[in-house]
Amino acid sequence: MNRITRRNFLKGAGRLTILASAGTLAAPLTGCGLLGEDKGGMPLLSGSAYQELDPRRPERFINRLNLPRGDGFMGVLDLGAGPAEFTVRRQTQEILPGKPAEVLAYEVTAGGKSYVNPLLIARDGTAASVRLSNTLDEKTIIHWHGMQVDWRNDGHPSYAIGKGASYDYRFTVRNRGGSYWYHPHPHGIAGKQAYFGLAGLFVVQDENDLALRQRLDLQLGATDIPLAIQDRMLSADGSLRYASTNSERFSGFLGDLIAVNGVLNPSLDVQTRVYRFRVLNASTARSYRLMFESGSRQLPFQLIGTDGGLLERPVQLQEVFVSPGERVDLLVDLRILNPGDDVFLKSGTFNPMHLEMSVGGNMPSMPGHSMGSDNTQGMTTSRLEEGAEFNILRLAVKQRVAYDLSLPAQLSQIAKLDVAGAQQGQFTLTSNGSRWLVNGASFEMEKVLFEAKSGASEVWEISNTMMSMPHPMHLHGFLFQVLDRRNSPEQVRRLAHDPQGRQATDLGWKDTVLVWPGETVRLALKLDHGFTGEQLYTFHCHNLEHEDSGMMVNYRVV
Ligand code: C2O
Ligand code: CU
Ligand code: CU
Repeated sequence: MNRITRRNFLKGAGRLTILASAGTLAAPLTGCGLLGEDKGGMPLLSGSAYQELDPRRPERFINRLNLPRGDGFMGVLDLGAGPAEFTVRRQTQEILPGKPAEVLAYEVTAGGKSYVNPLLIARDGTAASVRLSNTLDEKTIIHWHGMQVDWRNDGHPSYAIGKGASYDYRFTVRNRGGSYWYHPHPHGIAGKQAYFGLAGLFVVQDENDLALRQRLDLQLGATDIPLAIQDRMLSADGSLRYASTNSERFSGFLGDLIAVNGVLNPSLDVQTRVYRFRVLNASTARSYRLMFESGSRQLPFQLIGTDGGLLERPVQLQEVFVSPGERVDLLVDLRILNPGDDVFLKSGTFNPMHLEMSVGGNMPSMPGHSMGSDNTQGMTTSRLEEGAEFNILRLAVKQRVAYDLSLPAQLSQIAKLDVAGAQQGQFTLTSNGSRWLVNGASFEMEKVLFEAKSGASEVWEISNTMMSMPHPMHLHGFLFQVLDRRNSPEQVRRLAHDPQGRQATDLGWKDTVLVWPGETVRLALKLDHGFTGEQLYTFHCHNLEHEDSGMMVNYRVV
């Protein structure tokens, strides 16, 4: 079922040709729209241009993957070295050669160097100092996703700044070592800004993480490699296209091209040794079922970390789901391969469980949602269904090397939170047919849905209704532990790691957890960060179109 068979391949190709020709007929040109405006009228990339980039075709994975480097795009910036100036700016970039497209970028200067969307690194305990300046005609604010900071430094949407304004962040890094990230959080437009390019990684280094790197001889940027995965969609003029239909706003935007670290259809040269991949799902709405394949053989890998850093022990897996906002830290052993072999990181087939189509009053009542071509009818224009099988990254084995290091049995300690006497919180995820709701409510900047005492232990039960879709629920301010999953769909239950129904990724500290239709997930958290004064944080769906349309609540720690 995960293999690329010729039959599946042809089936996919046939479908996309039909859609592409229908898509190009759809609507007249609207001229060059401004960034982020509804480009529904602009024709899609033509069918033949799409086939050149179709991620189902392994032979198209020929573009060199961007890696962290000294400066420039994804340059490694140590926040411990001094203050950094972030400017949010429009840039032009050729996503397709010869076709300049507008994107957004964090242009950063620090220590006399310049960076674009730098990969931030910091030791635990680092005092970070960042100034954000906004040159856009709309508001923005940076949120440090997963970082345990006070709310003034967290990028709560009420702190969004307008054009010409700036905002100073000052916080101490107190997280466990791990892969965190940063992206915008202005209400209503966070998804669009992230999609157009505002996103970067934030690697926290602690004793455990440095010990592991030393033990396995892992070098950040060479054998310890961050992979930020985003799906994209292009118009015929090479510009980025985003959520122009009702369906894309309600279900979430699905692109039909796959970019890793900003590169479509990337390839990375590797040697026969162990590699670490810090995978970030930076897509606005698409989930991936990750696996590694070489020819017809699936390669096992080790899950070593999650959102909040290293697991206690590595877990060997064949596949893992990663939803928007989540991170998985993986080790892959390429010693069994030979120079000339290719390995593909890919997304395997799964049921996307878009059962929301049965509720939306203005939504078409057919299952799946990539069959449409008329933008105004509210169907998506994506040629890559969620749950389809496709490639993400090619690993091209170039060289045999000697490597005999082995993974330690223990990676870190994770003390189980004590939930005796914990306060109980209840969250239900529903929709009213046009918006997604948390406990029946849609986000209001001033409204606080609930309050909790600083220092308190909490158990939160999140229930997703059946006539729904998967929601990756994300918490600001604190990380949590997953206690159990009930009523998981079969494709999730069969991956359960323990009698509590937990997935392997549920064994680590988390800030985002995917809740499938019909499922109930219980979380444990302790509100023990100890910041003085009231703290206002958000809890929201990390399907960014859902977040932007109000699937978010405020909670206050007093
Ligand atoms: Cu990564 Cu509130 O978001
Ligand atoms: Cu966050
Ligand atoms: Cu959602």
